[in-house]
Amino acid sequence: MIKVQDLSKQFGSKRVLRNVNLEVNDGETVVIIGASGTGKSIMLKNIVGLIKPTSGAIYVDGVDITKCSSNDLHESQKKMGYVFQEAALFDSLTIEENVAFGLRTLTNLGEDEIINRVAHCLEMVGLENVEDLKPSELSGGMKKRAGIARAIAYQPKYILYDEPTTGLDPIMTDVISDLIISLRKHLKITSIAVTHDMKSAYKIADRIMMLYKGEVIFNGTPEETRKTDNAVVRQFVEGSSRGPIETDRTFKEMEKI
Ligand SMILES: Nc1ncnc2c1ncn2[C@@H]1O[C@H](COP(=O)(O)OP(=O)(O)O)[C@@H](O)[C@H]1O
Ligand SMILES: [Mg+2]
Repeated sequence: MIKVQDLSKQFGSKRVLRNVNLEVNDGETVVIIGASGTGKSIMLKNIVGLIKPTSGAIYVDGVDITKCSSNDLHESQKKMGYVFQEAALFDSLTIEENVAFGLRTLTNLGEDEIINRVAHCLEMVGLENVEDLKPSELSGGMKKRAGIARAIAYQPKYILYDEPTTGLDPIMTDVISDLIISLRKHLKITSIAVTHDMKSAYKIADRIMMLYKGEVIFNGTPEETRKTDNAVVRQFVEGSSRGPIETDRTFKEMEKI
């Protein structure tokens, strides 16, 4: 399991995450929701060890990756696939090369096995005949899927998705949600997914956690989320401009007119 304990992250005097706690049990999909700039990506980057917290601990299968040796950190990182917010594919490489990149650079797998595994991963995410294309030749939804194929190529135990559906149309969003559910079912993957999209959140989550100004203000099942009387959570999930969440001044000024 992944256990985040009293995680805080500060950049200079700016406190981005404050005493965040989260437990993700094996087989679970936990969705993190929250407004832009509230610390969701920073939280994922801490969990995969791309950045170090200011204080707190992050246990991946019992190993505190914030304090272990760099060897142990690499071992833990091999268990985690990370799907970047912007797919983050290498523009100059083909899709096949992108998905194979980690396998070629970080494992001792033979070329035949790599080719097979890449083909299998692309098939799992529903991409066909794209091996030789460059990322610029793919639609937004296809790029997201290629990013997911790259993350699962490692056969990770955990997968962390950073806004896997942002920028996609509603139908493609639903296709990606179904893909996340299917990966969980077929690969028994444990997931943490950051999203703004409540339809997708309700569909894929076992549990929904909301970050607000760097703090966890809610953690519950989708059912509990729908029913909550926490005004901040309600405003966010209902997508309303009215409520306790500060909107920009322009809006308030417009109200007066
Ligand atoms: N390297 C950095 N230095 C300073 N501030 C940062 C850095 N990275 C992110 N931040 C700030 O941390 C806050 C949270 O960022 P982020 O986790 O990316 O938000 P989001 O919830 O939209 O994913 C933002 O206000 C962002 O400007
Ligand atoms: Mg983000």
